[in-house]
Amino acid sequence: MITFKQVSKQYEDGTKAVANANFTIDKGEFFVLIGPSGCGKTTTLKMINRLILPTAGEIFINDVNTSKVNIDQLRWNIGYVLQQIALFPHMTVAANIAIVPELKGWDRDKTNARVDELLSLVGLDPEIYRHRLPTDLSGGQQQRVGVARALAADPDILLMDEPFSALDPVVRASLQKDIKALQQNIKKTIVFVTHDMEEAKFLGDRIGMMEDGHVLQIGTVQELIENPASPSVTRFLRHSDGVEQTSMPTVGSILTPIEDSEYVTSGEHQSKNELQFVLSNDNQLKDVQYLGKSIEHYQTINDSDTLEQTYHQLEQCPFPALPVIKGDKCIGVVSYQNLAKLAIQPALHHA
Ligand SMILES: Nc1ncnc2c1ncn2[C@@H]1O[C@H](COP(=O)(O)OP(=O)(O)OP(=O)(O)O)[C@@H](O)[C@H]1O
Ligand SMILES: [Mg+2]
Repeated sequence: MITFKQVSKQYEDGTKAVANANFTIDKGEFFVLIGPSGCGKTTTLKMINRLILPTAGEIFINDVNTSKVNIDQLRWNIGYVLQQIALFPHMTVAANIAIVPELKGWDRDKTNARVDELLSLVGLDPEIYRHRLPTDLSGGQQQRVGVARALAADPDILLMDEPFSALDPVVRASLQKDIKALQQNIKKTIVFVTHDMEEAKFLGDRIGMMEDGHVLQIGTVQELIENPASPSVTRFLRHSDGVEQTSMPTVGSILTPIEDSEYVTSGEHQSKNELQFVLSNDNQLKDVQYLGKSIEHYQTINDSDTLEQTYHQLEQCPFPALPVIKGDKCIGVVSYQNLAKLAIQPALHHA
């Protein structure tokens, strides 16, 4: 349990980065801090492990005032994952992960076993990756090593500062899914900073929304939607931070148009696929059939949904494709193939 009591941070040049923060993060909770650039998220996060000292107020971890705790002890029990993953380039993956266990004086066998366990936990085969150098890993793999390193000494708390923001949408969605599953298994308290409302909604048990150094509101997505404390909250919920959203590729930009899709049955065009989206003459989705049988409650996806949402929807859908809807019309179909094309042609979605 992490408690902020009237915590403020004013930097030496006078910048007020955090003003009177009062909140509690529960044990085992996935807590997401969100807000626009410069609102004080990183400052808030770094005050938890005393990388930054508050200028007023106190932070308690399990009712112990962190200012009274030995700084090494404190940091060893708090894993930290940065946006710009800072693996040591001249050290192997295993050596990078072993840093804190070695500082803590674990013997070599225990450390090696822990390294392999962690690599498996984050989805990297120890046989293959243990001896690699960071430069021989993809961005997503480096992030996984960063997560493994943060977990190495089995900390109770994991701080993650925009850990996935440099990754492409497909890798990012897959890491989001993994970290969420990981948290459910290992029951760590995670404090996760992001700009991205979709990421916050997907990951957070609760979301803390910040603006201008103030924590505007804390709650579940549902609570924020139903009872926004201010118009800013509503605006964030709708637009993420308004900056990324405009450049964020949507499913509408990668779909297969209905005339080219093997899944669509309309007018003259009969699909031979076992999965069929049956459209009316004016392209309304009339029926979805699998092996000739209508499916009730079939999922659809909105053309303005992001690629991350698309990925998550496809994951939850038992079928390989989803009809994309704009207004009341079906405008195309999206499947993993569309996402895969994007992954091998990353320039496409920047075009
Ligand atoms: N060392 C520093 N000295 C002075 N001002 C600072 C310092 N570090 C951060 N700030 C300022 O404090 C405010 C909060 O910064 P912080 O890094 O916490 O924001 P953030 O919400 O993490 O932003 P971003 O999303 O861009 O990472 C900003 O106005 C920033 O310029
Ligand atoms: Mg930051």
